[in-house]
Amino acid sequence: MSTQLWAGRFEAAPDEAMQTFGASLPIDWRLWREDIAGSRAHARMLAAQGVISEQDALAITAGLGRIAARIEAGDFDFRIADEDIHMAIESALIADIGDAGRRLHTGRSRNDQVATDMRLYLLRRTRELAERINRLRATILKLAEDNPEVILPGYTHLQKAQPVLFAHHLLAWFWMFSRDFGRFKTAHRAADASPLGAAALAGSGYPLDRQMTAAELGFSQVIPNSLDAVSDRDFLLDALFACTTTVLHLSRLAEELILWSSEEFGFITLADAFSTGSSIMPQKKNPDFAELVRGRTGRIVGDLVGLITVLKGLPLAYNKDLQEDKKGVFDALDTLELALGATDGMLATLRVNSEHMFDGAQGGYMAATDLADFLVTRGLPFRRAHELVGRLVLLAEKTGRRLSQLTTEELLAADENFADLQPETLAVEHVVARRTTEGGTAPVRVAEQLLLAHSRLREDAAALNFEDGEEH
Ligand code: ARG
Repeated sequence: MSTQLWAGRFEAAPDEAMQTFGASLPIDWRLWREDIAGSRAHARMLAAQGVISEQDALAITAGLGRIAARIEAGDFDFRIADEDIHMAIESALIADIGDAGRRLHTGRSRNDQVATDMRLYLLRRTRELAERINRLRATILKLAEDNPEVILPGYTHLQKAQPVLFAHHLLAWFWMFSRDFGRFKTAHRAADASPLGAAALAGSGYPLDRQMTAAELGFSQVIPNSLDAVSDRDFLLDALFACTTTVLHLSRLAEELILWSSEEFGFITLADAFSTGSSIMPQKKNPDFAELVRGRTGRIVGDLVGLITVLKGLPLAYNKDLQEDKKGVFDALDTLELALGATDGMLATLRVNSEHMFDGAQGGYMAATDLADFLVTRGLPFRRAHELVGRLVLLAEKTGRRLSQLTTEELLAADENFADLQPETLAVEHVVARRTTEGGTAPVRVAEQLLLAHSRLREDAAALNFEDGEEH
C-alpha cells in the first residue's frame, strides 16, 4: 500500500472503500497535460523568485517531461491510491527525482492547482469546439449555395404556412450556430484568468509571482481574489451553457432531418453511411444518428443542471464537492463534439429531393396571404380581405381543390376586384419572391444574407484565437 502525500497527521490509512469513493483519478487523469504545464510554470517561478534553487527547478521540469513521455506512451501506472492526477504526478516525480520533487508543492495547494488545470483544459476545448461549430456553419452555407432555387413549404405549428427558399431555412440554422460560436467565445474568455498562486485559499507567504505563471501558461490575467480563485466554477457553467444551447440547436435540426427523411415528407435522403438498418425489417433505413443527436441532448442538459446543483449553497472557499465538476463537463464536451461531427456528416452527404419539396409547397393554400394582400392593393382593409379569402379557402377545401383551381366566377362572386388578378402571382416562386423585407425569403434577400453569413464566418474564424480577455 502506498502512503498518501498528506499522511503525516494520520495514524491510520484510509478505509479502502473510501479510497475508491474519494478518488477522482479515474476521471481527472485527462488533465495530465495541463497539470504538468502548471507544475512546470510553478517550479520555474519558484526558482526565479529564489524560493527553490535553479538546479531543483531544472530537475523538476526534466522529471515532469519524463512523466509526460510515460503517460503519452501509455506506460504510466495510474494507481487509485494516489487519489487524483495531481498526487499521481507528484508522487511519480518524487519517486523519480527525490527531494527536488518534494519542493514542487511549495506555496501551492491542490485547490489552486485543480482550478488552474481546469481553466487550461477549458481554454483548449472551448476553442476546439468553436472551430468545430464553424466547420458545421461552413457545411450549412455550402448546402445553401448548392441549392439556391429550391423551394419548400415553411411551417408554423408544423402546419404548412408559407413557402420559403430551402437556402433561407438553412441560413436560419446557420445563425443559431453563429450564436453558439459566440457563447463558446464567452466561455473561453471566462476561463482565461489564472488562479495559480492563490494556494489553498488565502494566498501565500512566499514571494510568488502570479503574473509570471499566468503569462507562462497563456492566461491574459490573474484572478484578483484568492478565495474566489479556488472556489469559482462559473467558467464551467459558461461552457456547459454553451454546450447546452448548441446541442439544443443540433437537436432541433436533427428533428427536422428525421421528419424530412420520412416517406411522408420525402424532402431529403440521408446517405447510407449516416443511416442504419433494422434487425427484423429488411426494408428499413433509419435516421439513428439524428435520433442520437436529439437523444443525447438530455445528457448535456443534465450535466449543466448537475453542476448548478453541486455549486448551490457551497460556502467559500474550496469544498470537496467541487471535485464533482469534472465528470459532467468532460461528458458534455465529448458528447457535443461527437454530435457536431455527426450532424456535419449528415448535412454534407444528404440528398436534397427538390421535386418533393416543391410538390409539398403546392399544397396547404400557402398563397392565401398573398391573395388577401392582393385585395389590400385594391383598397380593402386587411381584416376584410383576410375574412374573404378565408371563405375561399373553405370553398376550395370543401370541393377538394387548390386556390389556383377556383374558377373566375367563384373569385368574382367573392370580390369583383379579382377581375384584375393574374393567376401566376399565386405561384410559389412568386409568393417567395414577393417577400423582400430585410431578412425575408425572396431570392435577392437570401443572396444578400448568404454574403453576410460568409463575412460573419470569416470574422469569427479570424477571432478564433479569442485574444481579448474578459474583465474579472
Ligand atoms: N481532486 C480534487 C478536485 O478535483 C483536487 C483538489 C483537492 N483539494 C483538497 N483540498 N482536497 O477537486
